[in-house]
Amino acid sequence: MAPNTSASSALSWTVVGRGAIGLLAACRLQLAGNPVRLWLRQPATIDMQFQQQPIQFLPATPPLSAVFVPVKSYAVLETVTTLLPHLTADAQLVLSHNGMGSIEQVLPLLAPQQGLWFLTTTHGALKQADSVLHTGCGQSVLAPLNSAAQAHSNAVTAAMDTALGPLTLTEDIQPFLWQKLAINAVINPLTALHNCHNGELAQPQYQQQICAILHEVCQVAAAAGYALHYEVMLEKINEVIQSTATNFSSMQQDIMHQRRTEIDAINGYIVAQAARSNLAVPHNTQLQQQLLQLQQGYGR
Ligand code: PAF
Repeated sequence: MAPNTSASSALSWTVVGRGAIGLLAACRLQLAGNPVRLWLRQPATIDMQFQQQPIQFLPATPPLSAVFVPVKSYAVLETVTTLLPHLTADAQLVLSHNGMGSIEQVLPLLAPQQGLWFLTTTHGALKQADSVLHTGCGQSVLAPLNSAAQAHSNAVTAAMDTALGPLTLTEDIQPFLWQKLAINAVINPLTALHNCHNGELAQPQYQQQICAILHEVCQVAAAAGYALHYEVMLEKINEVIQSTATNFSSMQQDIMHQRRTEIDAINGYIVAQAARSNLAVPHNTQLQQQLLQLQQGYGR
């Protein structure tokens, strides 16, 4: 998609937090001439390096008109609630995280002219002490989630294309979220439990469990009205395992660093949706319980 630079400069962007994907987006936007400010718990000026160039981010100053919110699924509600009093009447918010369940929580909180978007990305980024590395060149899918978002489509689309493109704009994000959920429901908990690289999951001993998890996800997606083709998804999962073979998944990293994981928005979302449709999902249930136990072990 060709970026519409005049429209993108019409919005002044704030990025929440200092996670790797958020910083990657912030650096790419700023280098393209769209000044970005950071919204941090403790406001601060951040100096960093990106592609051998020094970049400085100033703290965000309300009112905020366009906010990229790449925070973990469990932090979305609290983050948006904190942002609400600082948003302009027609602010545009772009959510981006693994897992599902946040959209329906955030939509009712916004004023009629405030737009909500979701962006799902396959870009990889790694944050180091004072730099961010673009470790995997991916692509993103962006969708407006309400009519107030559609009213600002050109400006938000152009900016997100600059930040995390190449971009596909879709009217319905749900099929993309279900596909990503299926990938995360398999790779994330297994790599976290076995403390391994994604590529390890290509070993024969994992294949039965991978098939069982995916089978449950497909059943739940179908009951929710989104057909996931089992064979196609299995192929996609194997592709991701191959293409990210030497990477550690985000959940493996969370467990490794004793942080809270996104298990409730991934396998936990499958379990909750299954209960609504009276479906049994023993494999996803067991993974959720195992991960919760691990987290509780270090007090998260
Ligand atoms: O969460 C992650 O780590 C990523 O979404 C994925 C695709 C599993 C690759 O590691």
